[in-house]
Amino acid sequence: MKEIKINTDSRNYPVLMGTDILNKNNFKEFSHKEILLVIDSKIDESVKKEVQINLSNISSKYSELTIEANEENKSSDTLSMIHDVLIEHSYSRDCILFALGGGIICDITGFAAATYLRGVDFVLIPSTLLSQVDASVGGKTAINHPKGKNMIGAFHQPSKVLTDTKLLKSLEKVRIREGLAEIIKHALIKDKTFFKWLEENIEDLLEGNDVKLLEAISKSIEIKAEVVSKDETEQGIRKWLNFGHTFGHAIEVYGNYKKFSHGEAVAMGMVMATNLSQKILNLEKVEKDKIKRLVHSILTEELLKTEFHPKNLINLMSADKKKKGDNLNFILLSSIGEAQILSGIDESDIIESIKLT
Ligand SMILES: NC(=O)c1ccc[n+]([C@@H]2O[C@H](COP(=O)([O-])OP(=O)(O)OC[C@H]3O[C@@H](n4cnc5c(N)ncnc54)[C@H](O)[C@@H]3O)[C@@H](O)[C@H]2O)c1
Repeated sequence: MKEIKINTDSRNYPVLMGTDILNKNNFKEFSHKEILLVIDSKIDESVKKEVQINLSNISSKYSELTIEANEENKSSDTLSMIHDVLIEHSYSRDCILFALGGGIICDITGFAAATYLRGVDFVLIPSTLLSQVDASVGGKTAINHPKGKNMIGAFHQPSKVLTDTKLLKSLEKVRIREGLAEIIKHALIKDKTFFKWLEENIEDLLEGNDVKLLEAISKSIEIKAEVVSKDETEQGIRKWLNFGHTFGHAIEVYGNYKKFSHGEAVAMGMVMATNLSQKILNLEKVEKDKIKRLVHSILTEELLKTEFHPKNLINLMSADKKKKGDNLNFILLSSIGEAQILSGIDESDIIESIKLT
């Protein structure tokens, strides 16, 4: 088992990670608490049972709610369902919510905890690679609004994160690739050595090798932890974590949130941001080629053939909520591991970078 400490202005908490960390020892500190467990409907039965037994055995009050994880359900209706259970069973301010699921379940449970009785504690047990390296670290919680993703939310840090790689065994292959996109992003903005390690180990990671995945998750969380510790509420360097996301969010909308998953859109966005980095920050061609090779290896042939209408994509980027004033913000690389925030970039340069080659 490995432990990484996340230190933020509002709270310090541990992320425990390993191949068997959902045992009762890691739940002991929650004994005699009122507990609500929110579960993703696709969690493997045996892992689910282990968590259910461990929590129901120690709690003073126990309820659970199973939710089908899709973006439509990341809604105010589902949030109300969680609040309804808490209110019907008279949960006090001293209660604690547990999320067992991917980013959707983590985000909505976190937001339910942030808003119930003006804020109660919660623990995350992320069950997808993406949520283990991204959504479970940093305290962003949210639900969607019909007009946009993650529009209603709060910064609310969990009390603890339990990251167990055995949960990844039941994941579809595409979900591993989505998580790898965020892992590659972490290397690109902060750590050249880790990028090189990813180049050498990408095949094992794609095949779901436990040991390698744990190493990648741990390194990736360390990078995100360092960034959010310095900038909890995204006033400065936390924006680096949006590398590939200005293009990526627009790509998600371009495909109506159906054609491309978040991870796929981010991966394609990273290729475009890399093209723009060469143009604007003189990122060396040899580094650009290395980045593309690695990112291409997590995308399918079919996705790599996608052609975008640049003007349409730029219009969608301008509608993104992270836009400041009239300028689009881009996170660009001067070299692998060195990120910068830039705005005021000529539209012609952005248009030129919208390609996957
Ligand atoms: N809070 C943050 O900082 C942050 C960061 C990145 C993404 N997000 C959010 O996270 C969400 C995406 O998260 P995600 O990629 O984890 O996807 P997800 O939560 O949508 O899960 C993807 C699919 O995998 C299934 N699943 C989950 N765990 C499983 C398991 N162990 N075995 C089999 N199937 C499983 C789910 O039921 C779902 O069908 C988005 O809503 C995004 O906005 C939040």
